[in-house]
Amino acid sequence: MPQLRQAAQERSLLSLLFHTKFAWTALGLENTRATIELSDANTERTISASWQGESMSMARHVIALLKSHLEGDDKEFLSVAMQAAAHEARLGHIAVAQQLRDLIDEAKRRGSAVQKRPGQLLVLEPRGELANLLSVQIPGTRLSDMALPDCLAERLKRILIEQRQQKQLRAHGLGPRRKLLFTGPPGSGKTMTASAIAGELHLPLFTIMLEGLITKFMGETAAKLRLVFDAMRQTQGVYLFDEFDAIGARRNQLNDVGEIRRVLNSFLQLLEKDTSHSLIVGATNHPDLLDRALFRRFDDVIEYSLPEVKVAEQILTRKLVAFQIADLDWSRILPEVEGLSQAELARASEESAKHAVLNGTTRITTEALLAALHERRATSR
Ligand SMILES: Nc1ncnc2c1ncn2[C@@H]1O[C@H](COP(=O)(O)OP(=O)(O)OP(=O)(O)O)[C@@H](O)[C@H]1O
Ligand SMILES: [Mg+2]
Repeated sequence: MPQLRQAAQERSLLSLLFHTKFAWTALGLENTRATIELSDANTERTISASWQGESMSMARHVIALLKSHLEGDDKEFLSVAMQAAAHEARLGHIAVAQQLRDLIDEAKRRGSAVQKRPGQLLVLEPRGELANLLSVQIPGTRLSDMALPDCLAERLKRILIEQRQQKQLRAHGLGPRRKLLFTGPPGSGKTMTASAIAGELHLPLFTIMLEGLITKFMGETAAKLRLVFDAMRQTQGVYLFDEFDAIGARRNQLNDVGEIRRVLNSFLQLLEKDTSHSLIVGATNHPDLLDRALFRRFDDVIEYSLPEVKVAEQILTRKLVAFQIADLDWSRILPEVEGLSQAELARASEESAKHAVLNGTTRITTEALLAALHERRATSR
């Protein structure tokens, strides 16, 4: 490979490591030859390069960079990049060396884009255009943090079991449940469930606010959705499409019909074609506004409702686990929980706990909890 072409290739590869939306797809290191391949799922562009003989040392640097990048070792990453810059300088490639140092300075200024999460896996913060479309979280929530009626708990456990044993399923040509639609009133646990599934499976939770996305990118929404579906293939995670009814809610408003139709049709196609290993969760308070065609595309449609008394009691007691609640008079409290959402009950527990702490005690009184429940009910009206 002519020297000049190779230097240009190295430069573009190294700059990609800093600005990359690219994922490496192949990496090879033999005695006399090293190869690397990067691909960008958005444009389906692939860049590859190979090194032989003297330039193997640069290849080793690139490989060390990728390894430290994947391991989330930012210090090592920048240290290898510095070594690569020094190596280039020794070879007399002053401009390349300078460019590398500039990139390193920029990377240090911006801070790390790599987040560590429990379980040693790595998540890349969405960059570039994706950063405007979704937000990422590494939830610590577990299913056991939720108070659930038995039938709902069983359905959620089944999702986790199928995910955890997907290898066995796939070996028989079967796929785990991973396209889920959550419907139900505000504060009934839809978002919390998406967090708990991500937490249980050690996956990042990516949230896409559909209503906002459609308003912000009028006319371009379908293209933006495609980017999100591309990201699903690149980074395994739980992708929560919140305000999911935005896809159907506006279909009756004449001026928006064309756009929403297009978005709905693209979403249906993308959802159908998606073969990633990510979980896709739609969440809505208004299932009645959804196009019926959407329901069929999901593996599970899970309905949430306001809690029964037993579950309500569990929410209150779990939230107050660190407090003294032995002398609470449940015969007075439980009649007051009806009609309150899971979120409102959680808030009422917190309020009564705060009240206790501010009074210098850890004992929750029936009166304080009742007052908090009444206040919640008044504000929820
Ligand atoms: N099953 C549950 N067990 C315990 N707490 C719960 C449960 N469901 C909800 N909560 C509490 O309510 C809060 C709000 O729930 P969440 O955000 O999941 O509601 P949502 O259904 O997504 O509401 P919205 O439709 O408004 O987005 C949670 O952060 C949690 O404190
Ligand atoms: Mg929610």
